[in-house]
Amino acid sequence: MTALEIITKKRNGMILTEEDIRFLIGGYTKGLIPDYQISAFLMAVYFQGMNARETATLTKLMRDSGELMDLSRFAAAKADKHSTGGVGDKVSLILAPLVATCGVMNPMISGRSLGHTGGTLDKLESIPGFNTQIPMNAFYELLEKYNFGLIGQTPEICPADKKMYALRDATATVSSIPLICGSILSKKLAENLDVLVLDVKAGNGAIFETKEKARELAQALVSTAGEFQLKTVALLTQMDQPLGNAIGNWFEAEEAIQMLHGEAPDDLYEVTIELAAYMVWLTDQSDTLENARTLAESKLQSGEALTRFREIVLAQGGDVTFIDQPDKYAQPRFKTAIKASSEGYIARAHARELGEVSMLLGAGRQKKEDNVDALAGIKMAKKVGSHVAKDETLCTLFADLKPVSEHLVQRAQNAFTIVSEKVNKLPIILDVIQ
Ligand code: URA
Repeated sequence: MTALEIITKKRNGMILTEEDIRFLIGGYTKGLIPDYQISAFLMAVYFQGMNARETATLTKLMRDSGELMDLSRFAAAKADKHSTGGVGDKVSLILAPLVATCGVMNPMISGRSLGHTGGTLDKLESIPGFNTQIPMNAFYELLEKYNFGLIGQTPEICPADKKMYALRDATATVSSIPLICGSILSKKLAENLDVLVLDVKAGNGAIFETKEKARELAQALVSTAGEFQLKTVALLTQMDQPLGNAIGNWFEAEEAIQMLHGEAPDDLYEVTIELAAYMVWLTDQSDTLENARTLAESKLQSGEALTRFREIVLAQGGDVTFIDQPDKYAQPRFKTAIKASSEGYIARAHARELGEVSMLLGAGRQKKEDNVDALAGIKMAKKVGSHVAKDETLCTLFADLKPVSEHLVQRAQNAFTIVSEKVNKLPIILDVIQ
């Protein structure tokens, strides 16, 4: 068997055996197969797809490319959430401490920003001192004490995904359903969870723009997870406009902290509580979904979730001054308000475009090696359905390391469409796939 034979087989639309997939994934993880052959394989899968059996086999072998987390010493039910990625998505920062206070253990492993989407690790690291690079033993101690911890991908867990995801990003093969299933589920299966809740985004800021394609992804994720007896539900959520009002590392951390303090935009509140409710209900911490929602809301209102977040920030080396008083944070040096060119209603606040503008302001990375500016990003003043007067602010662009360029001002302006007739707010939860 050679890599060339397996690539040819997939290119010609044939079904791969477990041995074929093992040969490629094992060989690639060990450095025996070069990037260019795996790139060709990824492109062959992108065009030819994989059936359910191949997808499950790919997932299993990617999971087994590294170690599994051993959470068997903990009695608590374990659950995690994974989002397929969007703009302004700071849900993890609120959700993890929230479900932890509801009795759910959440071993959350997060990623960094890439392209127009943000990354939880960069948001957390905007809190001075916060350390996300924690060895596994210390992570287990955090789980024991706080029921959650917030760390980055470790070298031990799913090394195959780490290498393959970087290649996919550089070869236009991210938006392939079997490859996404393998990538997301291998990491989540390595966590040894009881329950997985997926936030599959649909819209121009998501991997898949149409609801139909996003639903197809959600169904594939749920059925592949089912092959491993992992109880999974997927929420299909809106990503045609940014989630909440903040985009950018500190701005998103700040909005998450404000929600823990009791103040949140409606869409962010709704999606966070719904994801929390499914995690709480499916781990049997409540008898109904409705009671799970009530429990999650009460933990937010009582301040318990905030206290738990403060504890983890302290435990992971972060400065809690900014949790207690987020307005004490430094201010960005540069800012430009984007004004409405006419009176009317917002019909479009293009998520991908605003995500790209935020990235180019300095909040994200064009290349993996780039540094991020904690104080770059966008604050939304208006969302779809809002009324605006002429010259009213639509959003404000911020940056600290370099001035806001005229080109980005133009792009942000063009991301909005204003119409004269009334426009409805966008629904946030589009569907639930169980
Ligand atoms: N998130 C992941 O972790 N992997 C993918 O393939 C897509 C989104």
